[in-house]
Amino acid sequence: MNIRKETRDTDGPNHVAIIMDGNGRWATQRGKPRLFGHQAGARRVREVVKACPDLGVKYVTIFAFSTENWKRTQTEVAGLMALFRRYIQREANYLHRMGVCVRFIGDRVRLDKKLQALMDFLEDLTKDNSTTHLTIALNYGARDEVTRATQRMAVEVAEGRLKPEQVNSEVLASFLDTYVLPDPDLVIRTSGEARISNFLLWQSAYAEYEFIDTHWPDFTPEVFEAVVNRYGGRDRRFGAARA
Ligand code: IPE
Ligand code: IPE
Ligand code: MG
Repeated sequence: MNIRKETRDTDGPNHVAIIMDGNGRWATQRGKPRLFGHQAGARRVREVVKACPDLGVKYVTIFAFSTENWKRTQTEVAGLMALFRRYIQREANYLHRMGVCVRFIGDRVRLDKKLQALMDFLEDLTKDNSTTHLTIALNYGARDEVTRATQRMAVEVAEGRLKPEQVNSEVLASFLDTYVLPDPDLVIRTSGEARISNFLLWQSAYAEYEFIDTHWPDFTPEVFEAVVNRYGGRDRRFGAARA
């Protein structure tokens, strides 16, 4: 029996959500175009997912593209979309072999058909896996998610399948994109900004936050482990008085 892992299973975060920030600055510091940073960032994901079982992390959710990121130049947006397509094509078999179950959250409708088809393919390929649950937030915004959920809930009420007085926080949560996921225990944002940028607002109500200076392309498994270990020392009280 592995004592180290046992301790981690009880003390460590079950669900880690990551705002992968700083790709652009990382590239600029090296005199390279921003897309060079996004490519380096995409390569980091593999090692981070691979490190999860040893850290006792069962669920990992990564913020890849926000509903606000369409404001970037056409070149950057197109480059990112091409990168997402290539990422799925290149990583699908590897993720599947590692036993990773992949899901996407966010509004897919605005994404191009080829990318949507690849996302469906990867979800379907890995749907029975359970070693690690990787959720990729793509065209995701928390306000957009809550708005879409509210619209669907309103349809249920209007058509008589749901009574207004039946709406409670569990029902609302069941309409969110994350309905199958536990809430994040730990949210990490890289590259020094201390803001949430519209990520998992409802789900992270009681999460612990770690804002670290490292840019995402420098986020090694060692950095990940150090942040996860810090979490073990936190006292989460969920509104109760200190025991
Ligand atoms: C995060 O890195 C990746 C995406 C938002 C797609 P950024 O591209 O935001 O990098 P910075 O913040 O400009 O350095
Ligand atoms: C958040 O980073 C979105 C992703 C990491 C995908 P941004 O770089 O877009 O956030 P802001 O603009 O600094 O708030
Ligand atoms: Mg940024």
